[in-house]
Amino acid sequence: MDHLENARETVRKASRAYYAHLGYFEERTRTQKATNRELDFLEFAFRTHATHKVRDVLDVACGSGRHVLGLAHRGYKCTGQDYTPEQVQIAKNRAKSERVSIKLLQGDATKLKYESEFDAVLALYILFLLPDDDSVLTCLRQIHRALKSGGIMVCNIANPFYAGENWFSLKSIQHGHYFQEVRVPGMRYMSICRVQDFDPLQGVAWWQETHIIEASDGVHIFREHERLRLFTYWDILHYLQAAGFKEITCYPDWKTKPPKKPKAEMLIFVSRKD
Ligand SMILES: C[S@@+](CC[C@H](N)C(=O)[O-])C[C@H]1O[C@@H](n2cnc3c(N)ncnc32)[C@H](O)[C@@H]1O
Repeated sequence: MDHLENARETVRKASRAYYAHLGYFEERTRTQKATNRELDFLEFAFRTHATHKVRDVLDVACGSGRHVLGLAHRGYKCTGQDYTPEQVQIAKNRAKSERVSIKLLQGDATKLKYESEFDAVLALYILFLLPDDDSVLTCLRQIHRALKSGGIMVCNIANPFYAGENWFSLKSIQHGHYFQEVRVPGMRYMSICRVQDFDPLQGVAWWQETHIIEASDGVHIFREHERLRLFTYWDILHYLQAAGFKEITCYPDWKTKPPKKPKAEMLIFVSRKD
């Protein structure tokens, strides 16, 4: 393994360790309302941007499956894959208990082998976690290959220029720390995050995080590292073009109107394969 592949493996391992332990709790902080809003947006994008009716959907980092489960309930034929086996297992258990049929696999978002198989591909909350920019381009090219002609990809990034404080805003990174508390029924989730390293040239931050979770089965404490790549709108636009996508539209915060100013917290890109 050369030193570049070694560095990528380090990032993948950190990400896997993070999601193996925390994925289950993190998922519970997301309300069904928020997920439904994203699902509504996805259906809007399918209707508006694909040249034919979307039926087969691939989610390249499906996590514990909230989007593929939601879409399967809405009648789509879904395939989900994720690098972290623990996340895939949660998604499988959920699909079984919710009695929906979804193909779920363990796999890396940069090693997709599909060719012209899907009407839509999702890459949600994943691009900023990939080990480096070459991996991002590789992933987008493989997604392009996986799509049928006229099919669309929906991906998102956190907007580093967002004026609020969260773990992906430049503002929090410059402060050097970030605290968050989320309360949902049966759980209190606190995160104390400190910037361990920030490379302003490459836009890469390493967060050192302590998560304290008070749940009905006791208190859980996790200490993890998380790597974050800050992308701008222009970075992603150019990557999408380099990957071969043609019609590319950017939407703010799951709203169905393109943004006038970069005020959004999340930027969602819908791109079509010719
Ligand atoms: C923030 S979660 C998002 C999950 C899901 N897309 C969602 O929105 O709920 C990021 C997911 O990416 C997965 N992941 C990280 N690196 C990956 C890679 N190289 N290939 C595939 N999945 C990866 C993690 O295991 C985790 O489940």
